[in-house]
Formats: sequence, C-alpha cells, structure tokens
Amino acid sequence: MQPFSPSVLHALRAATPGLENSAYFNYAAQAPVSAKTLAVAQRLQNEESARWPHLGAPMREQTEIARTALAALLSADRDEIALTGGNSHGWGLAFAAMGPWRAGDRILVGRHEWGGNLAAMALCAGQAGARIETIPCDAQGAVDAAALEAMLDARVKMIALTWLPANGGLINPAAAIGRIARRHGIPYFIDAAQAVGQLPIDVEKLGCDVLSGAGRKALRGPKGTGFLYVRRDFLPRLSPVFADRLSALTDQDGAASWRAGAARFENAEASQALHGGLANAVEEALALGLENIRAATDAAAQSLRARLAAIPGVAMADLGRDHSGLVSFQMDGIAADAAARRLAERGVTVAASPAFYTPLDMQSRRLDQLIRASVSYLTLDEEIERLANAVETLRR
Ligand SMILES: Cc1ncc(COP(=O)(O)O)c(C=O)c1O
Repeated sequence: MQPFSPSVLHALRAATPGLENSAYFNYAAQAPVSAKTLAVAQRLQNEESARWPHLGAPMREQTEIARTALAALLSADRDEIALTGGNSHGWGLAFAAMGPWRAGDRILVGRHEWGGNLAAMALCAGQAGARIETIPCDAQGAVDAAALEAMLDARVKMIALTWLPANGGLINPAAAIGRIARRHGIPYFIDAAQAVGQLPIDVEKLGCDVLSGAGRKALRGPKGTGFLYVRRDFLPRLSPVFADRLSALTDQDGAASWRAGAARFENAEASQALHGGLANAVEEALALGLENIRAATDAAAQSLRARLAAIPGVAMADLGRDHSGLVSFQMDGIAADAAARRLAERGVTVAASPAFYTPLDMQSRRLDQLIRASVSYLTLDEEIERLANAVETLRR
C-alpha cells in the first residue's frame, strides 16, 4: 500500500533540498532535512547570534517545544524526555547511570546490539566483572523472547535490545521482550536509533525503561540531535554521572539535588537552532502520520528487495520475518565497499555497513561487511529501478 499519492510525494520531495543529486539509499545513516526544518534552524541560529545573548528566559524555549513533540511521538510524558546530542549520547548517559556493577552481574543483549553500546557495557560493567551475554536468536535470526526468559535469574541486572539493527532489515520483537522484562522487573533498554521516525512508537506498549533515538535518521532532524526517554518510575533507579547548573539544583548551603524528570540528563548549554529544527522535523513526521510513513517505507523496501533478489549473483542478507527500510545484500565477487564506490560513480548512494556496527551478529554470520540500501517514504520507484539497473551493470 502506498499511502502518499504521487502528487503528495512529489511535493514532499520538492520541499527537500539535496534529493535531486543522486538516487539516495542512505537514510539509515542520515536523511535529508526538509526545507522548512532547515529554515527554522537557520532562522533560530541567526536570532541566537543577533538577539538572544541579551535575553535570559527564552533561551530554552525550543528545547521545550522539541520535548513536547518528542513526547507525542513516543506516547510518553514530557518529563520522561531528555534532549541529547545523538543516539549513543543518550543511551550512554542512561547506561552510565545504572552502576555500580559487581562481579557476577549479568547483562543480556540481543545479538544485533549496536557496537557502541557493547563498548560502553564492556568498558563500564565488564571491567567490574559483570558478564555480557547474548540472547539466542530464533530460526529467522531475530532475538528469541522465549530463549531470553529461560536465561533469567536474580543476577540479570539489565536487558538491552537494538530494535532495528544497523546491518540489515530485521525488526526485533521489542514489545515481546518488554513483556518479559516487566514481568521479572528487569531494567530494559531499547536502542531505537533506526526505529524513530520509521515506526509508530508507544513506549508503554514496548514495556521499556529507557529508549534512545537519533534525530538525523528516519526522523529527518538536524545532525547533532537525539533524545532519551526514561520511564518516570524508573528514573529514581538511575544515578547520573554528570551534573551542571541545569541538571542539578544547589541551595545556598551548596546542597545539591537532581532536577525533576529526565531533563536531568540534559546539558545547560544547548543549541536552540538544533532543537528548533528537531521539533519541526518531529512535527512534520506526526503530521504525515507514523502509520503512513511505516507503510510507505515498507512498500519501497519490499519492492527493492524483490527487484534485487531477482538479479543473479545478488544474495539478500536481511534477517527476520518483519522487515524495516534497511535493505541489505551482497554481490558475488564484489566487496561491499567497492560496490558502494562503484554505485556512487553511477549516481546511486548506498552504504557499506562494516562489522563493527553489529559485531556479535556479523561475527556469528561470518560477515565483514554488507551493502546497505536504506529507503524512506520519499523513495521513488524510479530510484529503485536505477539502483537495480546499476547493480545489474556491475554484475556484468
Ligand atoms: C542502531 C544504531 N544505534 C546507534 C547508532 C549511533 O547513533 P549516533 O551516531 O546518533 O550515536 C546507530 C547509527 O547508525 C544505529 O544504527
């Protein structure tokens, strides 16, 4: 089903600078912002330079507008949202606040966990003697919720899931895992870097305690933006490792307390231009409708998968039953980075996704890189045809 008519799609693309430059299949890395998002950020940057140094109160107005929009996007409350500088920034702040870790603690992770999150876990918890263990996958390669339940005991202190992994089209069963985490009272972190702006999200249905997102991917916000959701009842469990004049309050005697809500994870110093741009991008996504965005993205991804799968010498590499807009494949005899370079010469932008994005999964599949062609609701049939034709040409 294509929820956006050709004329709506045409108008959305016309209002997106940069799309005319190539057939773009790298939305999972960074999506082009709309002309309005760009204009809002530029106007605010101009105002910030010209006017705001002389004003006090309005300095965080855009942060609050973005918080309201993000709360609506996630079906969360405003006080459960913090604005961050990117996905890993938010995820890492919440993770660092989980300690102290002790020898024998167990952290259970999906096999497709983002490499940066794994590094944070290994460097903070692993060095204290905590064990990071991989939850088995089902026959299709998704995290197996039943296998997770069989692993649980009193030493399990956290479950971490990357919902839509960076390397391929898998959608992990985040809500099924959340039901288990809730039932057993185990803290549950979701990395939703690729999910926000691509799927409808309801944090209550997901059952997560923490969820992190990036602004610059499917959400089409400015680079350098992201957010962190922390469930209100979970917040007291976290001890942030960083305080400033915004995140903490000090009284006249110097006694300090954390600011109310998830905003205790924010920096006092923040770009209002970026937050205003992010707010606009979220409002645009909400106006289009996340169900519509998901349906259009899925239609483009399915059509690309079908077209590529029919090309001799192309092997599709997406795991799972439910698929995202990240289409991954390999070409016989051509390494992914070489393929990406040669496709770029033909005006087609894809990514070569390296093993360190999802190291546990890539190692278990004995892969060192994949070609990743990520689509959006903005993707045209003509672009899909252009990519498929270019792949056919390289195969010859
Ligand atoms: C699943 C996932 N998590 C985390 C990240 C990193 O996000 P950021 O660069 O905003 O920290 C990415 C980036 O591609 C990602 O795909």
